[in-house]
Amino acid sequence: MPDLINPADRFFVAGHRGMAGGAIVRALQSQGYSQLLTASRQELDLEDGNAVQAWFEVNRPQVVVLAAAKVGGIYANDTYPADFLLCNLKIQINVIESAWRTGTKRLLFLGSSCIYPKFAEQPIREESLLTGSLEPTNEWYAIAKIAGIKLCQSLRKQHGFNAISLMPTNLYGPGDNYHPKNSHVLPALIRRFHEAKVADSPNVTCWGTGSPMREFLHVDDLGAACVYALENYNPDPNDPVQHLNVGTGTDLSIKHLAELVKSAVGFNGEIIWDHTKPDGTPKKQLNVQRINNLGWHHKIELREGIASTYNDFLTTDFRG
Ligand SMILES: NC(=O)c1ccc[n+]([C@@H]2O[C@H](COP(=O)([O-])OP(=O)(O)OC[C@H]3O[C@@H](n4cnc5c(N)ncnc54)[C@H](OP(=O)(O)O)[C@@H]3O)[C@@H](O)[C@H]2O)c1
Repeated sequence: MPDLINPADRFFVAGHRGMAGGAIVRALQSQGYSQLLTASRQELDLEDGNAVQAWFEVNRPQVVVLAAAKVGGIYANDTYPADFLLCNLKIQINVIESAWRTGTKRLLFLGSSCIYPKFAEQPIREESLLTGSLEPTNEWYAIAKIAGIKLCQSLRKQHGFNAISLMPTNLYGPGDNYHPKNSHVLPALIRRFHEAKVADSPNVTCWGTGSPMREFLHVDDLGAACVYALENYNPDPNDPVQHLNVGTGTDLSIKHLAELVKSAVGFNGEIIWDHTKPDGTPKKQLNVQRINNLGWHHKIELREGIASTYNDFLTTDFRG
């Protein structure tokens, strides 16, 4: 059987300036895939269908990774639901359809674990997709992502287009967003403990009880998983499951996570848990049996990943 991708192929990583896209570019380069096409938002607005089609007709990438998306937290999703649905649907339709029409031989679409029902059985298996109601705070984003998975699946089924989808758990690592209000829990903790250390504060207050269980994957492990999946994952078009979870398969409590971040940052004060603030879903963990069975496992353990991420934080002119 011919290789699914090879080093002579031209790759287009859409969203290469983002956290995930940047890691995918690094992973491709480290594996010898050096023919990389990229385009910043200023060069190519992926919401502009005519521009995307014209770009694909000129550049004709053989392999496409779609890591561009409008992403945001609960507040942004809740306040701008139409933006989240429209932007993400447009980006997906424009990139995936243009790739298919201009002869791309392989496409990888990045989704997210928020596609799964709010009360899916834990750890969440790929089969849980569309078996229950979504978490209302990010349903707009999730609906767009589910449409992306189904677009890839339908093009494979009807036209033999070789598109695959990966659903990563919570990511962290270089290029993360450390904004004081809009960041995810791990970068938010890094910033808060760092600022407390610098200010010599006696304590740091964290939201909730610290009991929710969460899973975290270093973004460089995601980059490696994307390359591995491009090289090895080719589901049968009639398989009802056409997407792969990506994670470590292990979760930990937010309390434990806070202790790890506190130690990596070198903050010596006390952690106070503000029980008046909401905890969110008690547990969110992906079942990663499928990708493990395919031969891929994560490599970066959380303690070392947090330490290197903190070093990156210290040397980055981060947003916000
Ligand atoms: N971060 C996580 O924890 C996580 C977890 C699971 C899944 N994912 C998935 O991974 C993917 C990437 O997420 P991320 O965390 O890397 O997000 P990110 O850092 O915000 O990167 C998104 C990238 O998309 C680009 N983009 C957005 N709209 C565009 C447009 N109209 N035209 C051109 N470029 C556009 C952005 O460009 P600018 O730089 O110009 O804004 C940015 O470079 C998403 O599909 C997300 O669902 C992320």
